[in-house]
Amino acid sequence: MSKYTFPKTFFWGTASSGPQTEGRFDGDGKGDSIWDYWYAKEPERFFNQVGPDKASYNYKLFKEDVQLMKATGHNSFRTSIQWSRLIPNGVGEVNPEAVTFYNNYIDELITNGIEPFINLYHFDMPMFLQEKGGWLNRETVDAYVTFAKTCFELFGDRVKYWFTHNEPIVPVEGGYLYDFHYPNEKNFKHAVQVGFNETLASALAIKAYHETQDGKIGIILNLTPSYPRDENNPEDVKAAQIADVFFNRSFLDPAIYGTFPKELIAIVKELDIVPKHTKTDLEIIKKNTIDLLGINYYQPRRIKVKENHAEANPQNPMPEDYFDNYDMPGKKMNPYRGWEIYEKGIYDIMINVRDNYGNIPCYISENGMGVEGEERYVNANGQIEDDYRIEFIKDHLRYLHQAIQEGANCLGYHMWTCMDNWSWTNAYKNRYGLIAVDLDKKGKRTIKKSGYFFKTLADKNGFED
Ligand code: BG6
Repeated sequence: MSKYTFPKTFFWGTASSGPQTEGRFDGDGKGDSIWDYWYAKEPERFFNQVGPDKASYNYKLFKEDVQLMKATGHNSFRTSIQWSRLIPNGVGEVNPEAVTFYNNYIDELITNGIEPFINLYHFDMPMFLQEKGGWLNRETVDAYVTFAKTCFELFGDRVKYWFTHNEPIVPVEGGYLYDFHYPNEKNFKHAVQVGFNETLASALAIKAYHETQDGKIGIILNLTPSYPRDENNPEDVKAAQIADVFFNRSFLDPAIYGTFPKELIAIVKELDIVPKHTKTDLEIIKKNTIDLLGINYYQPRRIKVKENHAEANPQNPMPEDYFDNYDMPGKKMNPYRGWEIYEKGIYDIMINVRDNYGNIPCYISENGMGVEGEERYVNANGQIEDDYRIEFIKDHLRYLHQAIQEGANCLGYHMWTCMDNWSWTNAYKNRYGLIAVDLDKKGKRTIKKSGYFFKTLADKNGFED
């Protein structure tokens, strides 16, 4: 029998976000985000045409939710403050209803012994700012910093773990390269500018935080280890390194070292798409780096040297002009999400952070498995028996444990997610929660088998098998 015990004070919990859980209700004063706008405009882009309007009713049910977090072993929990809820136009008036809501939610967590981790930006640009260009516009950076400072002033006395962004590469990919977020552009130049402005905004928020507050501030990145098709083929290896630069190091290097990878700088110069910036911007990014790294891990990236040149269009360059994705035979898949499951990836990320990023304090901020049609696993007592999710957790934790044994500075493990929630254009197709949400019964909650497993896991600070 093997025993996996995690460090004392390990963070056990889950992550979620405001736009995916809260919902919108009469009198709440929330303004439109890009998601409210896009859903109203093109509901057919969303699975079963379900939008973000009710989400998981967390705005109404947060007290019950905190009790369920306790019942499932949470000692910590992440959500995000919706910018368009706190400041409905993105700039200007603060919404008093939002202040009351977030104060009550944060207090409820703390009273119940759950450390709140708060993220500032989770893909949810206020529509008023998007109309003026969103992250393409330098004024959005200033508006974001004001939003961040407002959050620190209002909630910083109780919240001691802050994050500037969740997965900042995703708005770049979704909104400006691959058409899965509004504004649905395919424009590499814009993509690069958006990424740069997000990085600058993050550094400025970190600066403001360190000047006035005494907790920790970091960023949450979805790291996708980039594996070459053939480790012995230098061309495959080089292609995998370029993919790593685009999708991981583009945010990881500035977050930790305050600089951009030289390979990325060379490519944007070659393509003549260097983002608009000043010398002062670069100094700000250099000086204001993170205290703590959140790592979301779902899937690796398999890469081979560019073989298919036919699709490259010099008028419209794309990252894929520099590599091909490799469809590795025999890989283990989550068929519902279409993502490969590769448990050892979590270990490889940890060792990379240990060896190449100064072993900065980090934690797994998301890991999870979205499954469609979980109703078929309901037992006679109405509980979803999601043994596949329990196996998924254990399979990843064994590798995480090994990395910690080998010196990785990992402070915790958060699952995606607590309650089943609204997954952007996938809406409620794939369920990720430790707790089921019945949308036909106004969000009625039922703890899944994995929720009880997680409680035992957290109580014992590990597991045996
Ligand atoms: C992460 C995000 O990418 O993965 C979440 O931080 C998201 O917002 C989660 O919901 C699962 O991905 P998806 O696309 O299936 O919702």
